[in-house]
Amino acid sequence: MTAEVTTAAPSTSAKKTRKRILTGDRPTAKSFHLGNYYGTLANRVKLQDEYESFFLIADYHMLTTRVADLEEIGQNIRELVTDYLSVGIDPKKSTIYLQSLIPEVTELFLYFAMLVTVPRAQRIPTLKDQMRDHNLAVPTYGLLGYPILQAADILMVKGDLVPVGRDQESHVELTREVARRFNELFGAVFPVPEALIPEGGMLPGIDGASKMGKSLGNAIFLTDDPKTVEKKIRSMYTDPNRIHPTDPGRVEGNPVFVYHDIFNPDRAEVEDLKRRYREGQVRDVEVKEKLIVAVEEFLRPIRERRARYAADPKGVDRIIEEGSERARAEARKTLHEVRSAMHLDYFGL
Ligand code: TRP
Repeated sequence: MTAEVTTAAPSTSAKKTRKRILTGDRPTAKSFHLGNYYGTLANRVKLQDEYESFFLIADYHMLTTRVADLEEIGQNIRELVTDYLSVGIDPKKSTIYLQSLIPEVTELFLYFAMLVTVPRAQRIPTLKDQMRDHNLAVPTYGLLGYPILQAADILMVKGDLVPVGRDQESHVELTREVARRFNELFGAVFPVPEALIPEGGMLPGIDGASKMGKSLGNAIFLTDDPKTVEKKIRSMYTDPNRIHPTDPGRVEGNPVFVYHDIFNPDRAEVEDLKRRYREGQVRDVEVKEKLIVAVEEFLRPIRERRARYAADPKGVDRIIEEGSERARAEARKTLHEVRSAMHLDYFGL
């Protein structure tokens, strides 16, 4: 690093041409499902054209609730990135990176940890959720600090917008507080980022539950083969009050139609099915068979891309490596500013 001495906290936003987004995932989930696609991945693919995009694999975050069975994590990371790539996140447009390859983030985390009180961290609602989900009577110091680490992720690259689910809103709120507090104490270094929360509802599970979830056993995965997809759709929950095909059925909130609306591009076909369903002129089987075709059309290109990347794990690793180098360069720049703003650059060393 060059020992360039800055006297005032510089504003970097002048150099940025486009706004930045940053979001990420812990590498615990082995595979995404249609609900993830609908809730976040589709949005990321869209956003990458408009924003300078950073997608982070949060392996340090994973450690806050998992410190055993780590052997498989490398493979999980590769799979996660392969999923990103197969849905159309483009490494030429976006930076995909691995958190632990940017050790600078831990330094920023440390500085931020001085700006957040313990009761403030304890008040964050996800802490209780995590403790419940992982059967913890008391949190570790690391788990308590989880949202502060997330603030470091976001501010490290000076993210302006953070596309996340509603469950993560409180973390972005904390990030905003940290950014404001830092700027107040040391000068305007950070943007105050905003959460970008998807407006569309959740994708229901194939069992009719309001949410598709990996651990709920009601998901169609992007990696499911055609036979599995077919079986799952055939078993889908529809209108429970409709016993005979001649009974008028309910379309609103009926998962097969929710899926048709999202995944079937043939609007005329969907409208025709809805009309006939309401009038009791179509069998569930036909509605499902047309949905199978639509979902297959949707999944096929994803599967093909996935197969190409899966055949080239070295290529995937290279994408992670290059993205991480790019992210790390940003991290170094930010930390340089931070240290100088905090007067931690004693002697200009
Ligand atoms: N906390 C997020 C989750 O559990 C993952 C994550 C880590 C993240 N760092 C982030 C998301 C920064 C957005 C921005 O899903």
